[in-house]
Amino acid sequence: MQTVLDHGQYIMGPEVAELEGKLAAYAGTKHCISVSSGTEALLIALMALDLKAGDEVITTPFTFAATAETIVLAGGIPVFVDIEPDTCNIDVSLIEAKIGPRTKAIMPVSLYGQVADMAEINAIAARHGLAVIEDAAQSFGASYQGKKSCGLSTFGATSFFPSKPLGCYGDGGALFTDDDRLAQAAREIRVHGQSQRYRHTRLGVGGRMDTLQCAVVLAKLERFDWEIERRLKLGDRYAELLADVPVRRLAVRSDRDCVWAQYTVFVPNREAVQAALKADGIPTAVHYPIPLNHQPAYAHFCCPDCTPNATTAAAHVMSLPMSADLSEADQDRVVAALRRALGS
Ligand SMILES: Cc1ncc(COP(=O)(O)O)c(C=O)c1O
Repeated sequence: MQTVLDHGQYIMGPEVAELEGKLAAYAGTKHCISVSSGTEALLIALMALDLKAGDEVITTPFTFAATAETIVLAGGIPVFVDIEPDTCNIDVSLIEAKIGPRTKAIMPVSLYGQVADMAEINAIAARHGLAVIEDAAQSFGASYQGKKSCGLSTFGATSFFPSKPLGCYGDGGALFTDDDRLAQAAREIRVHGQSQRYRHTRLGVGGRMDTLQCAVVLAKLERFDWEIERRLKLGDRYAELLADVPVRRLAVRSDRDCVWAQYTVFVPNREAVQAALKADGIPTAVHYPIPLNHQPAYAHFCCPDCTPNATTAAAHVMSLPMSADLSEADQDRVVAALRRALGS
C-alpha cells in the first residue's frame, strides 16, 4: 500500500496487471480482468456475452441478490432452478427442462465455497450452445476435479469483499476466461466501453479495481495457500466436532472441496438457536433467509412454490464463525455453545 501511495497511480497502476497475472496463473486461465466488485464482475461478464433484452439466464434463487440483479440490469430474465437440498447448489437435473429459445447462459453459484456441478453444467451448455458464468464470489481457491474455481467455464466471476476467502480492504472482484475476444470485451466494458482513450466502441461501466485494493490482494495472496489449507482443516474439524450434535451439515462431493466462505449448517428452530448463541457471545449469520423468488424485486420471475428446496434451506441455514484465523480454542467454544443452545 505504501508503494502505491509513493507512485500515486491510484487507478490502473502497475499492481493491477501484476495481480491479474498472478490470479490468472492461480485459477489456471489465460486471462484475469480485475473489476470493482463481484457484482460488477457478473454484470461485465453478461455484457461481454452481449446479453440482449429478454434473453434468459438460468440460475439459482438461493444466493446473494447480485446474481439475479446483474441479469436483470443487463436486460435479461433470471430463470430460477431449485437447489440440491444437501449442497444448496443448483440441481443440474432440473436445468435442461428450463432451456428455451431465449436461453443465453447458465449462471450457477458455487455457494459457501463449494463448486457447483460444473462438468454437467458445461455439458448441458455445450449441447445447447450456451455460455456458463460461474458465480464464484464465495469459492475462490476451491478445487474441483483437479482444477480451480473460476477456471471452469466461459467466465468465472469472483469477489474480494472482505469476508470472502480472498478478501481485500474494501470492494474488489475479478473475471476469468480463456477466451481472447471475451477478455478484450470485458477489459473495454470495465472502462466505459473504451477501446482506446476517449473512443467508446461499446456500452460500458466504471468498473475498475483500485490499485490500492490490488496491492492488498497481492500481499494477501502470499499467504493464501496457507489460508485455504487452514479453512479446509477447520471445515473438517467442524465436521468432527459436530458429528454428535443434532444439526445437519452441508454435503461436500468427493470430487471437490469446500473452502467454507461460510460454515453453514441446517438447524431446527433457528431463531431460538441464534438468540442462545448470541447470549453466549457467538455471532451467527443467515446466508440467505429469503430465496430470491420470494423477494419483492424478483418475485415476478418465478412462482414462490417452484423451488421448494430453496424455501426449506432458507428457513434452516445458519452460518457459524469461520475464517483462516479462527483458533481451535474458539472453534471448540462455538461448538460447546451450539450444544448448549440445542440442549444436547
Ligand atoms: C454469491 C455472490 N454473488 C455475488 C456477490 C457480489 O459480490 P460483491 O459484494 O463483491 O459485489 C456476492 C457477495 O456477497 C455473493 O456472495
